[in-house]
Amino acid sequence: MSLLSVEGLSIRAGNKALVSDLSFSVEAGGRMGLIGESGSGKSMTAMAITGLLPRDIAVSGSILLDGQQVVGASEKVMGSLRGVACAVVFQEPLTALDPLMSLGGQIAEPLRRRYRRDGLDEKGIAADVVGLMERVALPQPERLARAFPYEVSGGQRQRVAIAMALACGPKLLIADEPTTALDVTTQAEVLQLLDDLVRDLGMALLFISHDLPVVANVVDQVTVLRHGEAVEQGPVASVLRSPQRPYTQQLVDAARAFDQALGGGR
Ligand SMILES: Nc1ncnc2c1ncn2[C@@H]1O[C@H](COP(=O)(O)OP(=O)(O)O)[C@@H](O)[C@H]1O
Ligand SMILES: [Mg+2]
Repeated sequence: MSLLSVEGLSIRAGNKALVSDLSFSVEAGGRMGLIGESGSGKSMTAMAITGLLPRDIAVSGSILLDGQQVVGASEKVMGSLRGVACAVVFQEPLTALDPLMSLGGQIAEPLRRRYRRDGLDEKGIAADVVGLMERVALPQPERLARAFPYEVSGGQRQRVAIAMALACGPKLLIADEPTTALDVTTQAEVLQLLDDLVRDLGMALLFISHDLPVVANVVDQVTVLRHGEAVEQGPVASVLRSPQRPYTQQLVDAARAFDQALGGGR
């Protein structure tokens, strides 16, 4: 059984279809890219998987996450899945972080939930906070743990958000445009970090981006979304080599032009 199996997922706001009959699956340790232009329904899909959609949005179809049905699940069931079956890193780390809490304090929160669940002595949390900060390559973790979000760079904030996502050892990491808000150099570093973490910790990855070259380097499979519908799916290499649909061809052409502008080419 797949770790994540989305089948016939539809998401509506009133009579507007945001996502229509979407199906894809991610195996344990697998890497799926969800790509498409802005507004194509990528974040709505991520929020449906994590049960974070606003109440007035209607969801139908099936989302099996680690064997549990997410569509229509209670907050109690979702609470048991969040952080453990899957954790999310969002585009803008500032919105994910509490401006008034130290970075170490924020990383301690999901750790504390895990400690309580496992009946562990909370004395170990401070050391685990530092361990997670080292894991995401934050410099001088003891000092940075006392810093506040506004005192560190955007890339460092995103590393903190990633550390929080790792705190409960999720089986699936959902990264929703995790590098879009960062400058190009920092983008590459954070991408490399995610790639390493997913490999070293044996997580599965659902990587969401509007940017095909970014996705292509970190995933094995892609689902191309347009206006809420999957227009193409398959192994990333074959989709890049021979896109079947004009929309995907446009994305590939744009990616090639981008590569050539950088003096690369694939
Ligand atoms: N709370 C909401 N209520 C109604 N429509 C929404 C809401 N949030 C987003 N949308 C619409 O849903 C569509 C998909 O949005 P989204 O999933 O955020 O796109 P993406 O992440 O691919 O850029 C967009 O047309 C957006 O305007
Ligand atoms: Mg989005």
